[in-house]
Amino acid sequence: MQQDIQALLNDQVKYEADASIQYLAMASWADANGYNGVAEFFYLQSEEERLHMTKLIKFINQRSGKVVIPKIKQPSSEYRSLNELFDLFLKSEMFVTKQINHIIHKCLELKAYNVHNFMQWYVTEQLEEEAVARTLLDKLTIIGNDKSGHYLFDRDINTIATTGHNPE
Ligand code: FEO
Repeated sequence: MQQDIQALLNDQVKYEADASIQYLAMASWADANGYNGVAEFFYLQSEEERLHMTKLIKFINQRSGKVVIPKIKQPSSEYRSLNELFDLFLKSEMFVTKQINHIIHKCLELKAYNVHNFMQWYVTEQLEEEAVARTLLDKLTIIGNDKSGHYLFDRDINTIATTGHNPE
């Protein structure tokens, strides 16, 4: 495996790990503040990011590269509102997308076509995750400070994430 590509993939391992821990902190905050639906959503997101990280680690090892298990960044764990939580979620996903696009660009530049092919899964995943984060943040912007709106958002988060609407 080319050194430049290996370094980028290891960087990506760290970004996915950081996202996983960040979402775990967000899940815990939601849990502690009575937003059980939001908590479950972020516990699951945290698991997904961990899988994204592990998939990269396995790929680097399969290609006889060297994996560096990263030090994890301390996540922020105090949030003023659901809005702030989901704003951070979207920003985090946009950051990851930018890094993945950078890897794709480098793969083409260095003719690392097998890695390029592997990374396509991440491109699709990011499209989906960014769309979900945008949908949820848009919904919260509409709800504003309405407490009953927050209650319904928490109750219906999974439906809103997949359809963009409350069930009723
Ligand atoms: Fe694996 Fe949502 O970044």
